[in-house]
Amino acid sequence: MVRWEINPQIKRLIKIIGKQCADWGINAYLVGGSVRDLFLGKSNIDLDIVLDKDVGIIIIHLAKIFSARYVYHPQFKTAKLFLENISIDMATAREEIYYSIGSLPQVRISSEIERDLFRRDFTINAMAIRISKGGLSDLIDPYNGLEDLRKRRIRVLHKKSFLDDPTRIIRAIRFSTRFDFSLEENTLIWLKEAVCRDVFSRISPVRLGNEIVRLLQEKNPLKAIEQLRQLCSLKIIHPQIRFNRKWRKYFPQIPRWSRDFGRETSQSVEEWLIYFIFLTEKLNKEALQRLCLSYELEKHKRLLVLHALKLRKIEKIGFLHYKNSELFNLLKPISPESIIYLIIRVKGKLLKKKLFEFLVRFFKTRLYTDGERLKELGFSPGPIFNKVLETIFLAKLDGFVSTKKEEENLIEKKFLSRQ
Ligand code: CTP
Repeated sequence: MVRWEINPQIKRLIKIIGKQCADWGINAYLVGGSVRDLFLGKSNIDLDIVLDKDVGIIIIHLAKIFSARYVYHPQFKTAKLFLENISIDMATAREEIYYSIGSLPQVRISSEIERDLFRRDFTINAMAIRISKGGLSDLIDPYNGLEDLRKRRIRVLHKKSFLDDPTRIIRAIRFSTRFDFSLEENTLIWLKEAVCRDVFSRISPVRLGNEIVRLLQEKNPLKAIEQLRQLCSLKIIHPQIRFNRKWRKYFPQIPRWSRDFGRETSQSVEEWLIYFIFLTEKLNKEALQRLCLSYELEKHKRLLVLHALKLRKIEKIGFLHYKNSELFNLLKPISPESIIYLIIRVKGKLLKKKLFEFLVRFFKTRLYTDGERLKELGFSPGPIFNKVLETIFLAKLDGFVSTKKEEENLIEKKFLSRQ
């Protein structure tokens, strides 16, 4: 009998799902990473549930019971329920057939959970626990995932796994660095064989990009990148990317500066973007732009990454005596990610401190004056609004102005008395 600890809220949810599915004659299973994390004692608020019937039958009903938002994709027979702090992915059991290396598989709905488990990447992700009326019941573990969890190893289900889906190569590195697991002997051989067959050229850049981003979102991207380099070379990201030993010094600083920034401003930092900027910093603008486009990064992230390239060129300027407003003009557009990148790159404690204080001040500065107030003061909406607001903002950044009264005095002096 296998035992697991489960968070009471999730336990309650699962019980309700189990009861509803049983009433509707549906077999339901908790699967994949949710089961793995349960055995590892790690909390996971993204639950994966597989049903042996079309999720469409029950999703509306469950959404009503939980008063939750949901999306349902009838063509894939998958759905997602959004509860307050938990999301539940639900899918109809399926099997996948791969016809050629790296291509997307043909998906066939299947009512057998074992077939659904067989399509999965690693044994530790190919376990299921039946969800019955009373909650989680028996474990279904046809590929001995539990034993691999205990032996702390990543093992694929079959020889062709990496050829079927080359993104599993990066996933293997991701899970092995996250859990500090080793790659099982044959798995390692098959992984290397797949790399030798240049499998990455057969998958779409978007799929590759997604996995690279997820790798960089791990707790220890340096370890993951070192392993990626060792097992398949960083050229899979871009032919011009080489490992830079300085990353060993730079990377551990990223979470530290991000944490400090978060503590001061209560704003979060997308740390993976900073890792990405470092990884790609040797690329020229065109190559970087092409890479970001091929990964389909959102526009503001693309611009931010490209902007960091420009910041590198100014890192040697001695801006220690610049006022904040001058720094703003030199470094804009300001994002925590690009400035933290610069902070890590520049030399000298004082310069780092200055940039950090500027960044914090930039994100903490708030204006009392807004568009409505400008209208009351007689300004007509248009480019002048931005001009006035930026003038006040820069004066506040430099500490010349702080109260509401001082803001209005500045407007009076700079704009109204001239009219
Ligand atoms: N899966 C797979 N092959 C892939 C992607 C996913 O077999 N290329 C399966 C695995 O069973 C995995 C599940 O789909 O556990 C969910 O995928 P994903 O959310 O990517 O993985 P998690 O294991 O949940 O990873 P994480 O903990 O990082 O969310």
